[in-house]
Amino acid sequence: MKEKLCLLFLSFLTTLTISAWSGDVTIETPNTMLVLHAREGGDLRMAYYGARVANLQQLRDAGADLNSSALPAFGTVDMVQLPALQVLHADGDLNLELQTTDYSSHAEGNAQVHVFTMQDKLQPIIVRMFYKAYRQVDIIETWTEIENGEKKPVTLKRYDSGHLVLRQGDVWITHMHGNWAAETEPTSEALTGGVKIIRNTDGARNAHLDAPEVMVSLDGRPQELTGRTIGAALCWSGNFELRFNTISHKEHHFYAGIDPQSSEYILDPKQKFETPHLALTFSNEGLSGASRNFHRWARTEGMLHRGMKVGDILLNSWEGLYFDIDEARMIQMMDDISKFGGELFVMDDGWFGDKYPRKNDTSSLGDWVVDKNKLPNGLRALTDAARERGIKFGIWIEPENVNTTSELFEQHPEWALQVKGRQLKLGRGGTQLVLDMTNPQVQDFVFKIVDDLLTQNPEIAYIKWDANASIQNFGSLYLPKNRQQNLYVDYHLGLLKTLQRIRAKYPDIVIQDCASGGGRANYGLLPYFDEFWVSDNTDALQRVYIQWGTSLFFPANAMACHINHCPYWNTGGRVIPIKFRCDVAMSGRLGIELQPKDMTDEERQQTSTCMADYKQLRPVVQTGNLYRLLSPYDRKGVASLMYTDDAQQKGVWFVYKVDNYYDQPIPRIRLAGLNPDATYTLVEKNIRVGQRPCSLSGKRFTGRFLMEVGIEVPLREEYASRVFSIES
Ligand code: GLA
Repeated sequence: MKEKLCLLFLSFLTTLTISAWSGDVTIETPNTMLVLHAREGGDLRMAYYGARVANLQQLRDAGADLNSSALPAFGTVDMVQLPALQVLHADGDLNLELQTTDYSSHAEGNAQVHVFTMQDKLQPIIVRMFYKAYRQVDIIETWTEIENGEKKPVTLKRYDSGHLVLRQGDVWITHMHGNWAAETEPTSEALTGGVKIIRNTDGARNAHLDAPEVMVSLDGRPQELTGRTIGAALCWSGNFELRFNTISHKEHHFYAGIDPQSSEYILDPKQKFETPHLALTFSNEGLSGASRNFHRWARTEGMLHRGMKVGDILLNSWEGLYFDIDEARMIQMMDDISKFGGELFVMDDGWFGDKYPRKNDTSSLGDWVVDKNKLPNGLRALTDAARERGIKFGIWIEPENVNTTSELFEQHPEWALQVKGRQLKLGRGGTQLVLDMTNPQVQDFVFKIVDDLLTQNPEIAYIKWDANASIQNFGSLYLPKNRQQNLYVDYHLGLLKTLQRIRAKYPDIVIQDCASGGGRANYGLLPYFDEFWVSDNTDALQRVYIQWGTSLFFPANAMACHINHCPYWNTGGRVIPIKFRCDVAMSGRLGIELQPKDMTDEERQQTSTCMADYKQLRPVVQTGNLYRLLSPYDRKGVASLMYTDDAQQKGVWFVYKVDNYYDQPIPRIRLAGLNPDATYTLVEKNIRVGQRPCSLSGKRFTGRFLMEVGIEVPLREEYASRVFSIES
């Protein structure tokens, strides 16, 4: 139902049909508010985003009304302000003068959607700007839809999802930078004059190097538990650009959208283009507060397919065996994980290929049939073995990619992205290419990989969906010659279409999102995935850092955290005690990634203890509220985080010693998120094999004491770590 709602100070509400209207539109969540000025025939203006205020007049009286274009279009706003939208019209005109023509608002699930319709003064281009405000969580999504009413195609030269204006001050941004095996290092910096751009141009994945999320701390240097903080996540899996532009002493402008480089999108007559959604939050409780809002939104509003469900404890075969799998080894691994108390076994890469069996990474992608030499009795023997052991079975695929050495490439070389006449640039293994997801036949093929696996093996409960290649060959043999520039975008639209089809048929299968580790941890794909592989680096010390950065935006039940083997090759043979390795993996969705056969008795015993304890702690860890207490990046020698349940009756607290030297001060850690008036008992969990619980275990403290005075945790030896259950 279309309603003219929320126009609080309407001038002419009663005469809508005959006269122009204007007013303030408030877009509200439980604790936040975005205010826009809308005027029929005028530019839509953004006035405010922050904590809810009861009376808008106070904003004006305090001079807090920012009054800046909500969607700066090239041609509407001052040319020194970067545009969020620019269209090349069919006649060569590059301008847009957007006038608001309509406003409506409607309920959608747990949210209220506000729609502003704007039209260019001269050309028939219609732009709809959407704001979706959730009723139970402090998230507002914004996006646009651009409709080409011209007689010929137009080009979207710039098509951001959203724009925010921020008052200047001591404003800092925190964004994730990293690489393969070193993902999500939060980098904080003060915003200064000029333009700051964060972008990713991988083509297929977008969370290695730079990720499509940013935190903005409005009160100076970012703090975990205090300070006004805006969080922004672009829900998109392809190339993106986040920009900050500081042109006056008054304002910073923030823009987020698809990176238009090589992607100036051509829109046919009557065609509409919907930009990815930009999710925004505001919190008075620092970075952790903004993170909690994102986590809650992910779990409760379908942004994470798993929702509030907890993930199983699993063993993945990759780091234990790499490509060296066979039926006997798979069954041995299933024996081990079931003895430890695990719930799922995942067979990783190496199980497929007929004419070209997958022995290493140089062949076979595309040929999704069992390698009969390695698995003579097929997948059936493995799903039977899993059932007999009381565990579930999962399998690895990499459906969007192909090796040139494969039957698929022999049959359909045209399905790979490529440029006619140019030599192929080959990726992993010297033979890997990306399939053309713009092509509906390829979409059908990818759907069929999953469909065949699951119809032929209905007991498969889990899929690890990998993507180990960037788009290096920018060309599609499917897209017409004059639509090549739509490739980067249409690839991801094709992928989303395929995932939607898979989910429509298989809503319950658990699917892990992996891309050479954490290369695809983004909110564009998570609605179709249950978790993602955080990193190919499973070194527990590095994982403290990587998981810390990942938790800025993603909830614990989305983060697959596995115990590895030592010495560990990725970090030059580092050896870390099993207790520390377990404690780090327990702070997300616990799993193991090693050959259990090679474990020592101590390692086996500790792993069993860890799994048993984790089963008790898992609901709070995986679906609780995260408080990051002491950052490993602050170089205090110790890192610490905790989770609490909504009722503040239970918590789980992790402490890791990340440095070790003589006479080292161990910081007193103040907890957070507890009820100050409740009394809690600290109970140590996953106690080190052969040791007794530490002196704190069993002691009772008030929430106020824990949060105001804090606790010194005994952490003597190198890689000391502790896990406590906090029980009221
Ligand atoms: C990628 C993934 C790994 C593993 C391998 C298999 O690197 O990130 O976890 O699945 O592929 O080839």
